[in-house]
Amino acid sequence: MSEEMKTVHVERYNLISIFLHWLMFLMISIAFGVAFILDELPKTIKPFWVNIHFVIGSLVLLLLLVRLVWRLWIGTPPLPSDMHAHTKYASQIVHALLYGLMALIPIVGLVTAFYRGRGIDFGVFVVSSPLETDRTIARFFKEIHELAAWTLLVLAGCHAFLALFHHYVRKDGILLRMMPAKKVSSGDLS
Ligand code: HEM
Repeated sequence: MSEEMKTVHVERYNLISIFLHWLMFLMISIAFGVAFILDELPKTIKPFWVNIHFVIGSLVLLLLLVRLVWRLWIGTPPLPSDMHAHTKYASQIVHALLYGLMALIPIVGLVTAFYRGRGIDFGVFVVSSPLETDRTIARFFKEIHELAAWTLLVLAGCHAFLALFHHYVRKDGILLRMMPAKKVSSGDLS
């Protein structure tokens, strides 16, 4: 840790918000990775991995609900007082867009699967499609699902880049807001 950062005081997110942030990052990355290789897979194993993609997507939606309720209840730590008002506003807009896309993508994905006549096998129970199969409507929703997923990838990439930029260039402790506190030894960040 650099000398300059030792003097920064960091107001962190609470542990549950931090856990949900990184768990969802992991799950979205896996859902993306699986979607990326689906077309390369042999026909025999493809349905299994398509189902894995559906299951992870559904869990992302469920976790998002938990995360939003938790956020409304607990709130977020205040941003550093020396941060420019425009930067604060921009980060709020980006976070709102990320939340919107994290909801839109799995919802549209579920609608696509259902219009294809596909259910979701969660291992212990199966959710069958409540919709009448329609390949044309399914194709339309698939386009939206993919477009929104690529938009999320670009936006989350910018978001991660800025978090790392703040950490390594501005050295203002923003990245540490989303990290659990280390056991404090003398001279460490609070
Ligand atoms: C799929 C990828 C990701 C998504 C969808 C995502 C989404 C979000 C959202 C919605 C918030 C706002 C939390 C709130 O105020 O309720 C947030 C905060 C944050 N994220 Fe991510 N994130 C992703 C990946 C990353 C990565 C890779 C990093 C670090 C390299 C990162 C660092 C941070 C930090 C530091 C904050 C707190 C920023 C602040 O306090 O202003 N995120 N993230």
